[in-house]
Order: sequence, then C-alpha cells, then structure tokens
Amino acid sequence: MILVVGATGVVGREVVAQLVAAGQEVRALVRDQGLDHGLGGEVKVVPGDLGRLDSLTDALTGVDSAFLLTGGGPETPLHDANFATAAARAGVRHLVKLSIIGAEYGFTDLVSTWHLAGERALRQIGERPDGPQWTFLRPGEFSSNARLWAGPVKERGAVFWAQVDPKVAVIDPRDVAAAAVTALTTEGHEGKTYRIGGPQALDVRERVDILAAALGKPLKLVELPIADVAQAAERAGRQRLVVETTLGNLTRPEFQEKASQVLPTFEELVGRPPRTFENWVTDHLGIFR
Ligand SMILES: NC(=O)c1ccc[n+]([C@@H]2O[C@H](COP(=O)([O-])OP(=O)(O)OC[C@H]3O[C@@H](n4cnc5c(N)ncnc54)[C@H](OP(=O)(O)O)[C@@H]3O)[C@@H](O)[C@H]2O)c1
Repeated sequence: MILVVGATGVVGREVVAQLVAAGQEVRALVRDQGLDHGLGGEVKVVPGDLGRLDSLTDALTGVDSAFLLTGGGPETPLHDANFATAAARAGVRHLVKLSIIGAEYGFTDLVSTWHLAGERALRQIGERPDGPQWTFLRPGEFSSNARLWAGPVKERGAVFWAQVDPKVAVIDPRDVAAAAVTALTTEGHEGKTYRIGGPQALDVRERVDILAAALGKPLKLVELPIADVAQAAERAGRQRLVVETTLGNLTRPEFQEKASQVLPTFEELVGRPPRTFENWVTDHLGIFR
C-alpha cells in the first residue's frame, strides 16, 4: 500500500494517477475528506493534516511506502518531521520526499533551507531502528508555473513576469511524478538523492514564444519587479514569500548556473527522456484560451 501526500495538488495528483495506472494499491491523504477530489474510485481517500501528528496515525496504518509533498513554505520542516515520526510509528518502510534543487547545492535561501531542514528530519528519523528509509527528489522549476500566466494571456494577450532572462531547465510535473513513482515502485532508491530537471534550458522569452506559437497568436511579455509578480501569485493562491524567494534566486549567478543545467538524471532514473516545455504547453492549451 502506497500513501500519497499532496494528492490534490499538481504533482501529487499525477503520482496517484501514475501509481493506479501501474496497478499499485493507493491511498490519498487529504485535509478535507468531505470534498470530492476527483481522484477516482480505485483510490482510498483518508483524512490527515501534516500539521497535526496524531491525525496521521490511521492514514499510515498498513502503509509500506509513501510519497511526501509539503507546501514548500516555513511549515515544511515541521510537516516533514511529523510525517516521518508518524511513519516510523506505523512501521512504514520507505518515504520519497519531494524536495528542491537548492537542497542539492546547499543554497541558503529560505525555501532551500526549509526543504533541507525537512530532509534532515527524515535522515535523523531514518537512523532509528524503526525509521523509514528515504529518497529525495530535487527538481528545479516546474513547467506548470506558467499556469500563473493563464489569466493575462486570455484577457490581455500578455505575460507579466519577473526574471525573464535567466535560462532554466524547467521540468514537467508529470515527470516529477514519474520519478517519484519509479523511486516508490522499483528497487534500490533508499538513501539516494535525485537532482532532476527538464531537457532544455529556456528563458521566459523562449517559453512565451513557445506558448504563442502553440496558441497561434502573438503574446506580449512585460517584465515586472519580483515583488509585483509575487503579489499577483499570492492572489492566485501561492505563498508570496516562496515566489519571491524562488524568483530572487535567479538573480544569483551560482543559482542560475545550476538551474540551467540539463542533466541525465531523469532519463537514468525513469528510462526515457523528460518531456519538453512544448509538451506541457500542448497538453494544457485549454487553460490559456
Ligand atoms: N513549483 C515549482 O517550480 C517547484 C520546484 C521545485 C520544487 N517544488 C516543491 O513542490 C512542492 C509543491 O508541489 P505542488 O505544486 O504539487 O503542490 P500544490 O499543487 O500546491 O499542492 C499542495 C498539496 O499539499 C497539500 N497540503 C497542504 N498543506 C497540507 C497539510 N497541512 N496537510 C496535508 N496536506 C497538505 C494540499 O492539500 P489540500 O487539498 O488539503 O490543500 C495539496 O494537495 C513544494 O514542496 C515545492 O517546494 C516546486
């Protein structure tokens, strides 16, 4: 039995779908069990909140391994520690945590620091006799962050964004999920970290051009200060500080260098090349029309 945390979100929903497609028995942790999360009849939906350790006990009973996704904000270290503690108590064997690129290189921005603290908690709990083994996935920026462009593209034929020049090897969240599914369902990933990314380093101008070509209409790109983009992202439900920090990272040459690297890691892990940004755009054109 595999438990998926974050099952209603971008990556977790894909992890659930891909595990079900692979014939695995899947349980999905949700905060509000009263809602219809549209996860499909094969999936057992169980309640639990990462902020409340005791709420995780029932969800983890009988679970062999779990996909652990936290929001990436200041709650991340506590949520990771709570989950790993409850998993150890329940005798869970293996946790696959979605971490972040900055953890790979020890970057000291807030988001990397929070994920690193979460990783540390999993390592410490994993050292206990009953502690679960861990695997950390450390992706760079997701292709799907372009979802935040959808409203202005539809309404004004424009993208308003910050940091438009640095190149980033963006990764499709479906591929982040594929890496997680591989780590959860095949042997030999315990104690390993995977710095995964996409197949091409693209700046925002290039990504907007790809979107415009797919839509068959010109798009204007308007560069804004990071604070304005973070404020707009907050209105769309993102954590402002997280957006500010991740965009701010791109002002740092050492981060830019790492974020733009095209690596073989995904293909080595999953056995096929990662999807392109164009693939993501083509499959999500409806949200921009
Ligand atoms: N976006 C990027 O470019 C990027 C790049 C690298 C790494 N990451 C990492 O990816 C993660 C975000 O992934 P995502 O975009 O798939 O997330 P998302 O779409 O924002 O979904 C978050 C999920 O977490 C659940 N959740 C939130 N708080 C919870 C709690 N207290 N207890 C239980 N579940 C809770 C939410 O469930 P509800 O339905 O209950 O709200 C939702 O299912 C972060 O850790 C981030 O640092 C992101």
